[in-house]
Amino acid sequence: MCGILGYEGALQATPLIFKGLKQLSYRGYDSWGICAQTKKGLQTFKRVGDITKSNEPKFDSTKAIGHTRWATHGKVTQKNAHPHLNESGTIAVVHNGIIENADDLRLALEDEGYKFKSETDTEVIPHLLDYFAKRYDDHTALLKTLKHLKGSYAFLALLKGRLAFARDGSPLVIGLSNSGKFISSDIPSFLHHTRKTIVLEDGDWGFADEDRIYSGKEIVSRPARIESWDVEVAKKGTYPHFMLKEIEEQQMTIRKALNQDGRIKIAADLLSRSEVYILGCGTSYNTGAIASYELAKAGIRAIPSLASEFEPHLPFINEDSIIIALSQSGETKDVIDAVREAKKKQAKIISIVNTPGSTLARGADIHIPMKSGPEICVLSTKSATAQLAILSLLTHEIENKSPDLLREAAACAPHVIAQTKRVAKQLAKKLKDTRSIFTIGRGPLAPLAREAALKIKEVSYIHAEGMPAGELKHGPIALIEPGVPVIVFADSNTRTLTISNALEVKARGAYVIGIDSKNHPAYDTHIQIPDIEEATPMLALLPIQLLSYYLALERGCDPDKPRNLAKSVTVR
Ligand code: G6P
Repeated sequence: MCGILGYEGALQATPLIFKGLKQLSYRGYDSWGICAQTKKGLQTFKRVGDITKSNEPKFDSTKAIGHTRWATHGKVTQKNAHPHLNESGTIAVVHNGIIENADDLRLALEDEGYKFKSETDTEVIPHLLDYFAKRYDDHTALLKTLKHLKGSYAFLALLKGRLAFARDGSPLVIGLSNSGKFISSDIPSFLHHTRKTIVLEDGDWGFADEDRIYSGKEIVSRPARIESWDVEVAKKGTYPHFMLKEIEEQQMTIRKALNQDGRIKIAADLLSRSEVYILGCGTSYNTGAIASYELAKAGIRAIPSLASEFEPHLPFINEDSIIIALSQSGETKDVIDAVREAKKKQAKIISIVNTPGSTLARGADIHIPMKSGPEICVLSTKSATAQLAILSLLTHEIENKSPDLLREAAACAPHVIAQTKRVAKQLAKKLKDTRSIFTIGRGPLAPLAREAALKIKEVSYIHAEGMPAGELKHGPIALIEPGVPVIVFADSNTRTLTISNALEVKARGAYVIGIDSKNHPAYDTHIQIPDIEEATPMLALLPIQLLSYYLALERGCDPDKPRNLAKSVTVR
């Protein structure tokens, strides 16, 4: 949700920022902009639309900041695109987050004679910096500005020729390379230059030309670390889209996710003694809900909750509660806020997160890494199966069962991807003009059906609704008419009842697609997947990811950057 990137060093800055912003554009692609410190002063270039479709601005500069936007305050226009500058054009700011008291600050600044050009909350920052910079030294001006800001932010500023940074509530990480310093929302933007990083904490601020990092008035120590992410994984290579690449990578990533250390045992011990809540948003919520069935079988009552709707559970959270926080990015604000509330009540946090150094990876009592490598496509694919693999591993540990079955499932993934590709392509051609798709399943395959519908709608813009198969007859069946596609997920535990529901829609003319280890006359199209007991949902996701991908292509949609979405949602 908005990506920011700054560079100061020996190299030409604009090409680095331009290239890095492209890597960050999964965080938002409504507009983009770069501001460079040049001999002639600050020079700015902004455009509406996706940076990957634009030409690079040419500025002679070794210090610059850039932004790729997911609009929150103000329409998608060039005026609202970042960087935002003070009136004299000497201070520039790029920002990720929301300044909640922006309206009050704006009124106060307007009273002081400041004139605003955009509708954004961000624009108060350069004006505030301007106000204080006229009265104080750089450090004091920045610190005083921070004291006035309420909300969440990570921002970079070009302030009197210096590159300043600050974070509170939105991610910011420094990349230390031999040629200079990068400061970014996310590691992939500078991964091709360095893997040496310093992850900033909330409240941190400073200037790129100093080695000191401050929190309030104190100098703080933030150790550097070497990231394990491989730069090649953040590249598309020969694939037409990251989505397809990341779907195919599941041949390895499921296996990697299963390769965990002693933390699984510690987490399993904690879980078996407590009341458990599984939190997530979007796909991460769905995978948590799928896993809750398996945990229940192992005797663990794990309550799945959307992080944004966690409040009703809060009165029941205490020191005996365990929160499993699921998040690919580790920066989803809804999850972070829910975890914070739970922590206040002494709950223990187990986070299952993909992005190293992210807020949720660092803020947990036990952090289990997904090990999927950078996931660049906005849609969660390899991170979803990694989450399922890890949650199953946890359940196996609780039950003292060997994880062999999960390894068997991981070994099946390449076969499932290869086998279902052709049929997914054909189906996409057939379904490309359909208005609605329904997806149904029972037990863990019910939240799986919801995840399938989410995948289809977010990437192809076809209306899709996923529900427990038993609920279909309580309302949604009214929408079934001849030709409406219904995707049915079934396995050996749920088949008998689910097939009854499939027959009910078939009797009303629905076009039934069965994702099942066995074929059945109810299915007009059958996509065969192996039935590997509790690992079946993980494999059932693969054909649906492929179908969604090919539907997007058939309909001319960009699978990596669906409209209006952002990969990392750092606002509530
Ligand atoms: C956004 C993305 C979804 C993702 C959700 C949760 O809404 O568009 O694809 O599932 O965030 O992200 P997380 O990083 O917390 O797993």
